[in-house]
Amino acid sequence: MKGMSLKIGDLTLRKPIFQGGMGVGISLSRLAGAVAAEGGAGTISAAQIGFMEEDFDENPRKANLRAMGKELKKARELARGGVVGFNIMVAMNHYGEYVKEAARLGADFIVSGAGLPVDLPALVKGFSVKIAPIVSTEKSARVILRYWAKKFNCIPDFLVIEGPKAGGHLGFTKEQLQEFGPDAYEEEVEKILGQVRAYEARFEKKIPVILGGGISGREQADRAFALGADGVQVASRFVTTEECDADPAYKRAYVEAREEDIVLVKSPVGMPGRAIHNSFLERVERGERVAPQKCRGCLRKCKPSEIPYCITEALIHAAKGEVEEALMFCGADTYKIHGIETVKSVIKELLN
Ligand SMILES: Cc1cc2nc3c(=O)[nH]c(=O)nc-3n(C[C@H](O)[C@H](O)[C@H](O)COP(=O)(O)O)c2cc1C
Repeated sequence: MKGMSLKIGDLTLRKPIFQGGMGVGISLSRLAGAVAAEGGAGTISAAQIGFMEEDFDENPRKANLRAMGKELKKARELARGGVVGFNIMVAMNHYGEYVKEAARLGADFIVSGAGLPVDLPALVKGFSVKIAPIVSTEKSARVILRYWAKKFNCIPDFLVIEGPKAGGHLGFTKEQLQEFGPDAYEEEVEKILGQVRAYEARFEKKIPVILGGGISGREQADRAFALGADGVQVASRFVTTEECDADPAYKRAYVEAREEDIVLVKSPVGMPGRAIHNSFLERVERGERVAPQKCRGCLRKCKPSEIPYCITEALIHAAKGEVEEALMFCGADTYKIHGIETVKSVIKELLN
């Protein structure tokens, strides 16, 4: 409930807010640590997290695994005992290895989307890390809840619902994105909650539900709690905080973005995504191919010779502040952001 702490098993959040994972390099230790210190849950994105390591180009997997340890340690130092975990996307190559590493490192939680994390319970067996799938539709909620119940006799420790106004890759088809206006999506949220309640009853255990996507102010946060969410997940609002790991140029692009600059793109992954329009996207729209410089094998299903551009390279440009060569993921309400704030002030505004 709003204004109250949120319990996820033996974890207690003083504030019912998750900072959404943002790759590549947007939510690392500084942001996650700051959110955790304020009583929320700080999420480090594991997506190509090793991009600043010296051996990233030669051995991205090793660099990523090493960077996970470094970032979690730094986040813990900032977190004042708060809750810190990882976002690990199912679509990533070596997904299982990253999940096992997060569990071994002692992360508090793992959130997994961009695909359904069907094997997540098996990967963390024997560890106390809390696990959560990200779902966007009743269908995906039904499938993952049924699968975990049947195959592992378990339910998620919590569940993240990511709505159509989110940033990054979206769990909807282009048609669904057109269909889901605010009212239609609220109905979908209610259906997802219906699925959750059925499994809670069956397993006699609560599944806290965290709702995200377009939580840009108090009004949206209040609406999420009124709908029955136990917490909110917020990403874009945290990009423009002093503590966010993003480059200042990236933060500036957020502050300057107008509503008409925020567009849907088809990512090379095949999923729709949402980003700030810039000269890079103009080139892609013109049909220009930005050939990958080097494949770091980030995604399982990518065919480097066929893609219009490399998602890792485009997102690393964003992380480095090379904004005109970058894919700058953002949420639908990013245009409402008008300045740089602090994590504390954002949380206060959303939940006060
Ligand atoms: C810059 C950016 C990068 C993101 N990267 C990821 C990611 O790597 N994995 C993921 O599951 N979600 C990712 N997301 C989605 C967020 O975690 C979050 O659920 C969503 O953006 C919430 O909506 P909001 O931005 O309107 O608050 C990203 C979002 C943004 C804005």
